[in-house]
Amino acid sequence: MPIVVDHISKSFSERKNKKIRKQVLKDVSFEVPDGCFVSLLGPSGCGKTTTLTIIAGFQDKDSGEILVNGKSVNAPGPDRAFVFQDYALLPWLRVGENITYPMKKQKMSKADQEKRLAELLELAQLQNNKNSYIYELSGGMKQRVALLRALACDPNILLMDEPLGAVDFQMRKLLQIQLEAILMKRKITTLMVTHDVDEAVYLSDRVIVMGRDHGNILADVTIDLPRPRNRSNPAYHAYADQLTELLKKALDGAVFTKEDEDIMNFIRNSEHEARGGGSAE
Ligand SMILES: Nc1ncnc2c1ncn2[C@@H]1O[C@H](COP(=O)(O)OP(=O)(O)OP(=O)(O)O)[C@@H](O)[C@H]1O
Ligand SMILES: [Mg+2]
Repeated sequence: MPIVVDHISKSFSERKNKKIRKQVLKDVSFEVPDGCFVSLLGPSGCGKTTTLTIIAGFQDKDSGEILVNGKSVNAPGPDRAFVFQDYALLPWLRVGENITYPMKKQKMSKADQEKRLAELLELAQLQNNKNSYIYELSGGMKQRVALLRALACDPNILLMDEPLGAVDFQMRKLLQIQLEAILMKRKITTLMVTHDVDEAVYLSDRVIVMGRDHGNILADVTIDLPRPRNRSNPAYHAYADQLTELLKKALDGAVFTKEDEDIMNFIRNSEHEARGGGSAE
């Protein structure tokens, strides 16, 4: 199912003085065609999560329209699944129960729930963890359970807010491979928010770069590379360089938060490596 974001604007009132409104998104438009994987890349606070949650129907917009399969949507629906950055799993339930939770809400039969659960656990190689409690899992496993729960009811659209943000570097690379394999089996229209240039190139058909000026779209880059992506392909690095330059432009030297600092450090390190340097200071 395609998504159309049509001229959306959003402002929030200040907590101390409700009359003062801060505009976060102004006239933002883009499209995610059916079955495409699009990433939203941009500095901290530029409005990525706000955009994603408006598409999900979790919050209202001031103006503009979200069209899903040509129909205007204003509320959450089973057609759009959401993966939260902090997993949002139910810690008192087992892995299997977390994944079947949305199936129960959809009133799927017990037999169908079990069948679907087995398929999903196999997809993410979690067959042996069906009865584990969430607190017994590593960060990468929790991340996979959160993804499986989102896939549980076979959504047409997957919205992910930095789904791999909380796991370490090695696990992140592994999960990127698994995520791609899962999504390649069934082409789901996907919009993913990320800070990570490499992740965006590895997973996306297109990368939209958002700037700090009310979520203005600085660029929309098509990643024209065969899948699975090959990190040793020079064209892969050319895309990463192009996006790094755009991200730099989006930051414009203004570092406000820890995330900005992480992005700037990432950019400095990758430039240092590209020049053939050893470990950056
Ligand atoms: N409910 C809210 N009330 C007031 N201000 C908000 C609210 N939600 C978001 N904002 C503000 O809107 C701006 C954009 O926030 P948003 O969470 O969309 O940014 P982001 O691009 O996802 O950032 P990050 O990369 O750090 O997650 C920020 O300045 C934030 O403080
Ligand atoms: Mg965010």
